[in-house]
Amino acid sequence: MALSATKLLRSNLFSSAKLVGTLSLHSKYLNTGDSYNFIKVEKKGAKNNVALIYLNRPDALNALNDGIISDLTIALDDAQKDDDIGAIIITGSGRAFAAGADIKEMENKTFQECMKSGFLDHWNSVAKCTKPTIAAVNGFALGGGCELAMMCDIILASDKAKFGQPEIKLGTIPGAGGTQRLTRVVGKSLAMEMVLTGDHISANEALAAGLASKVYPADDLLNKAIKTAENIASKSKLIVAMAKDAVNTAYETTLAEGIKFEKKIFYATFATDDRKEGMTAFVNKREAEFKDQ
Ligand code: CAA
Repeated sequence: MALSATKLLRSNLFSSAKLVGTLSLHSKYLNTGDSYNFIKVEKKGAKNNVALIYLNRPDALNALNDGIISDLTIALDDAQKDDDIGAIIITGSGRAFAAGADIKEMENKTFQECMKSGFLDHWNSVAKCTKPTIAAVNGFALGGGCELAMMCDIILASDKAKFGQPEIKLGTIPGAGGTQRLTRVVGKSLAMEMVLTGDHISANEALAAGLASKVYPADDLLNKAIKTAENIASKSKLIVAMAKDAVNTAYETTLAEGIKFEKKIFYATFATDDRKEGMTAFVNKREAEFKDQ
């Protein structure tokens, strides 16, 4: 398929940005419409403050090739720079959220190539995103697809979702956080079972294990994800970012260190206008008007 001029420019920008280790060349505002090859991006919500990113290679069950990850990295970077956006949803298309890293792209890779290129290192853009992210898992979330969902802050699942780490069947292991994030979320026994057998679990099993926070009928998933995202986006973006940082710290440190960190962040909210506004609005029985200050 021929690339449009915009797509070419954007993919060149991405390559240059990768070279200099920064994404600062990108547009300040989130691009919607037809600017990408492998994803679709829309602004959603009554206030257009939700970025909705569709992984869009349905014929390959949204297998995560280099192009899809590059597009996703650019869209996330743009969404973070766009002051209007308060939350980001990543979802799939067709039967899948994402059926994993692209096996056809990996088939002939060598150990040396993986080492030299830092294979999969750049997937981390999702985990590093400072704005809140919701994975709306509509179908298969397997291998890298399950790992991508786990990099998001919240997983909402459709009743048709299937989660799994089937890499063992391919003679490899999860390589984008699956052995680590899954174990922290669902515990050792279920993580071991999933990683060692490669078997899938259903949406309800994911819910029971704490991997997903809600399960919705498939045709209602996106509406519910947008409502959740709008709810988050209506809060102070500044305080949301601090809250996200505090919860994520629970995964990175000891309880004692985490509690100390939380206390510092809690105190820091008292240096913001939005903390004062939130409490004053409550006392005066009115809605808070946050200014992200
Ligand atoms: N990579 C590349 N192509 C993929 C793919 C993947 N991960 N998953 C599915 N596809 C492609 C298939 O090759 C097929 O394409 P063709 O029509 O060109 O043959 C198309 O998507 C549809 O797939 P199926 O015909 O297999 O559909 P199905 O309904 O029979 O089965 C499935 C669905 C169970 C999800 C099956 O496709 C499957 O098992 N996919 C692979 C899942 C997997 O192993 N994921 C882990 C990848 S490794 C990884 O992710 C490493 C990491 O940690 C980062």
